[in-house]
Formats: sequence, structure tokens, C-alpha cells
Amino acid sequence: MAFLEHFAIFFSIVIFFLIVISYTHKCHKSIIPTNWPVLGIIPSVVVNAHRLLEWVTELLSCTGGTVFLKGPSFANMDCICTSSPADIHYILSKNFSNYPKGHKFRKIFDILGDGVFNADGEIWEFQHRTLKSLLNHPTFHSLLKKNIWNKVEKGLLPVLDKNSRQGVETDLQDIFQRFAFDIICESIFGYDPKSMSLDFPYIPCEKVLSHVEEAVLVRHIMPARLWKWQQLLGMKSEKKLSNACKIVDQFIYKCIAEKQKDSSNINYESLDENFDFLTALTREVKHQIVTSSDLDKFLRDILLSLIFAGRSTTSSTLSWFFYYLAKNSIAEDKIREEIETQLDKEISGKFNDMQELDFSKLVYLHGGLCEALRLTPSVPFQHKSPVQADMLPSGNKVGRNTSIILCFHTMGRMESIWGKDCLEFKPERWFAAGGGIKHQPSYKFPAFGGGPRSCLGKQMSFTQMKIVAATIIYHYRIELVEGYPVLPSDSIVLEMKNGLIVKLTKRSEV
Ligand code: HEM
Ligand SMILES: *[C@@H]1O[C@H](CO)[C@@H](O)[C@H](O)[C@H]1NC(C)=O
Ligand SMILES: *[C@@H]1O[C@H](CO)[C@@H](O)[C@H](O)[C@H]1NC(C)=O
Repeated sequence: MAFLEHFAIFFSIVIFFLIVISYTHKCHKSIIPTNWPVLGIIPSVVVNAHRLLEWVTELLSCTGGTVFLKGPSFANMDCICTSSPADIHYILSKNFSNYPKGHKFRKIFDILGDGVFNADGEIWEFQHRTLKSLLNHPTFHSLLKKNIWNKVEKGLLPVLDKNSRQGVETDLQDIFQRFAFDIICESIFGYDPKSMSLDFPYIPCEKVLSHVEEAVLVRHIMPARLWKWQQLLGMKSEKKLSNACKIVDQFIYKCIAEKQKDSSNINYESLDENFDFLTALTREVKHQIVTSSDLDKFLRDILLSLIFAGRSTTSSTLSWFFYYLAKNSIAEDKIREEIETQLDKEISGKFNDMQELDFSKLVYLHGGLCEALRLTPSVPFQHKSPVQADMLPSGNKVGRNTSIILCFHTMGRMESIWGKDCLEFKPERWFAAGGGIKHQPSYKFPAFGGGPRSCLGKQMSFTQMKIVAATIIYHYRIELVEGYPVLPSDSIVLEMKNGLIVKLTKRSEV
């Protein structure tokens, strides 16, 4: 069978070069990857596969912000990585129309279908417009706040209380993922899966979302032919991915069907008072001019992107934020002090008492969350592919269809952007001279993307992150448990590989 031969040849060559590389690496510590005949830089990618982000950051800092990576000659994997603010500004905003996501990205992310992250052109425009108006609907935002406080009271605080009383170790990342999953499902389906509750139920859809994110990263560093074979044969990460897809589809289609069942007698035209996200979205999709093959499939695609957007990003940002706090007790004390003085009320977690709290006054907390997003942005990179050949401001020529990788993760770690102390966690960096929060342009701080495709859930995620973070900091002291190294996951979302294992102590008992 032809593919087995290819497979065997490819791996023998890789192994050969791995041996050569591990040998030569001892001799000279050149950071620029060798461009091997036929294989391009694949051997260096394989050697660095467990630390891709770090490796790219090292590369970019010694090449001045852009680097061309040559893929194997048979695999169409050449790409340009850039972390230059001028390039980022140009690609995301100034020449937006020349830089769609492109075909290669669509194939790698085929699980997202026509969803907002994957689509270009009219299908993207329709979703962008529709989601913008729905996510910014005032009723949506007040419902969201209500749901968040409710979950703090009934889900988060009881779990933390139990764990701290029993003195057991707690995986905060797991808790944040469950929390964010429940909130996004409740917001868009009106259904709360209650994964964040005392008995920690296993909800397959909630967990397999991380498998999808890991499998998709593998597709980035493996020649397309190879992962397509694995897909066909149901091997390795592709097997995990296709299982995950089935579970996710089952979950979403069931939620859609339930909604259609109980809203069959709803009048779609008059919903203003009784705002319901999925009903409103269904109405828009039914009325659109852009036709997608199948209504339920299109709804599934839109909703899946929202679940991804809502779960992993906020939970990973919160996890990194608490990790940095555990390492910076001065920042932690300042944030706690601010919560106590600015919110002149005890944070009881009870919605009726809490809904009027004004979190916009908490600049230290806001700055701390921005620092977590700067150093460890949950979306660490993004792809683009030019429609027409062009020249980037950094002077690099890009041909049609060249893959361009925008390295957001590297940008937070560049001295040229953030100064000598760029690697330090300093919430004060975000203080404006006259009080309040300093605005940073998206081409310097692209954690939420930039230009026409910027994040539509920024407000929503800050609301959630601030309520959760303030509640925990107010009630608990957090210590990292030794023996669980905190490492970034090998995934397209910057989560933590082994979770964030901490010990909680109730402050009233400190
Ligand atoms: C800390 C939390 C978050 C971060 C760091 C974040 C980051 C991003 C980034 C980098 C993009 C651009 C992605 C791309 O075009 O490939 C994006 C887009 C988007 N985000 Fe977020 N996001 C967060 C939370 C949320 C939440 C809670 C929602 C709400 C459901 C959301 C909804 C969206 C949507 C709908 C888009 C697509 C915008 C468009 O293309 O028109 N995000 N986000
Ligand atoms: C955008 O890119 C196209 C294609 O290369 C080029 O012709 C055009 O001048 C660029 N537009 C701007 C605003 O730089
Ligand atoms: C770019 O990709 C499109 C779609 O796959 C293809 O039709 C076109 O020939 C490609 N152009 C070049 C220059 O590779």
C-alpha cells in the first residue's frame, strides 16, 4: 500500500535527521533552524514539538520579529511567522480584505464547519453582524450577570468551601473550565449542564473540547497528507478528534432539538421582552440571504464556535492569572485590598445582593487579567493567507496563499514592545496616568485579535473573569501545590497541561 511506504520513508528520514540534529546541537547552539533538503525545517519542528511556542519566541526574538519557515518540499507547509506590530496592524486592519483565513485553515479546522472563526466572505459577515447584535443585547448581558452570580453561589463557593474544609488539593483549571462551559451553554441554549457542582459530574462534551484543541494543533505541525491518512485509518489524535466530534455533535443537536420542541409555538417576530439567544439566532438564520446547505448544521457550526470561544479562553486566562498571583504575593495583596476598599460590600456570592456591584472600579484586578493575557494569551496565534501577492511592512514578500502565522504569544514577550521588564507580571503597567485603565492598541496587545475580526465576547469575558477572580481572592488564600509543574498545553488554546493544582485556605480562618 502506497501510503504505508510513504509513511515508513518519511519517518525513517525524520529519525535520521533527529539523530543528526541531536548530535550537531551539542556542537553549536545556533537557534536558526537548519533548512534541510527535502524535509525543510521539519526536523527542528519535531525536536521542539513539546515547546513550540517557546521555540518560535526564541526564533522571532533573534530574527527581529519575522521568520520564514520552510516546510518539506512535498507538503506545502511553508509559512511566515510574524510578531511585528506593523505587520499585525497591516494584516488585521489596514489591508484586512487581502488577508482572509484561507483554504488551508479551513481544512485544519474542518470541525468548525462554517462557524465564525472559520468562515470568510459573506458567511462570516452575516455571523459577525448577527452575533454582534445578539451578544450586545442589553437583556443578554443582564441575564449573563445573573447566571454568573447564580453559579458562583450554587456551584463555585460550595465546591471551594468543601475542598478547603477537607484540605484536599483542587484543580482550579478544571473548575474554571466547568464554570465557563456551564455559563456559555446557559447563555446560548438556555440550558445549564451543571458540570460545576459538588459531585463533579463527568460531562463528555465539556471534557472532549480540550481533545479537539490538542488534535488541531497536531494538524498544524504534521504534513496534511499524513494527518489525512491517520484520519482515514482512525489513528492517534485523529481518532480522538473524530470521537470528540461525535460527542460534541450529539450534545449540540440535542440542545437545538430541545429548544425547537419547546419553542414551536413561539412567535419569532415578537421576542424583544422575552429575549432568548437561540430563538433569536434561529430567526436570523432563517431570514438570511446567504444560504448554507442545512439550517440545523449551520446553527450547529455557529453554536460550536461560541462554545469554544466561551469555554477555553476565559478558563485558561483565569488559570494563568491565578498562577501569576501565586507567584506574586504583593500583587495578590494589592488586588485583595482594592476589592475590599472599592466594593464597599461583602462579596457574599448571593445574586440579589451582588448584581449592582461595580467592577469597573477594580483597576488592579483588570490590569492583572490583562497581564495574564499579555504573557499567556489564550489564543496564542492566528492564521492568515493573502488573496493577492503583497509586501508586508516588515519588508517580507508574501505570495498568494502563503500561510502567515501571527504570533500573539511572542508579542507579549518582546522587549521592543513592552520594555526590559516584559517578562514580569506587573498589573501597574495598565494604569493610565489620570486613573483608570490605559488603552493598548490591538496591534500591540492582540489577545482579543484586532480589526474587523476582533473578539465579540471581550466584555462578556471580563465580566465573568472579574466576578470569579474577585470572589476567590476575597474568600481564599491560594498556594500552588509542589510537584505539579505548571506547563503550557500542546494545544491551539494556551491551557495548562497538568491543570493548576492548588491548596485553598479560607481567609476567615487564616
Ligand atoms: C479571555 C477571553 C477571550 C479571549 C482571549 C478571546 C480572544 C479572541 C480572539 C483572539 C479572536 C479572534 C479569533 C480569530 O479571528 O481567529 C476572537 C474572536 C471572537 N470571540 Fe473571543 N475571546 C475571548 C472570549 C470570548 C467569549 C466569552 C465570547 C462569547 C461567546 C467570544 C466570542 C468571540 C467571537 C464571536 C469571535 C469572532 C469574531 C469575528 O470573527 O467576527 N470570545 N476572540
Ligand atoms: C493591499 O494589498 C493589495 C494586494 O497586494 C495591494 O494591491 C493594496 O495596495 C494593499 N492595500 C493597502 C491599503 O495597502
Ligand atoms: C491558491 O489557492 C486556491 C484555492 O485552493 C487555488 O485555486 C489557487 O490556484 C492557489 N494559488 C496559488 C498561487 O497557489
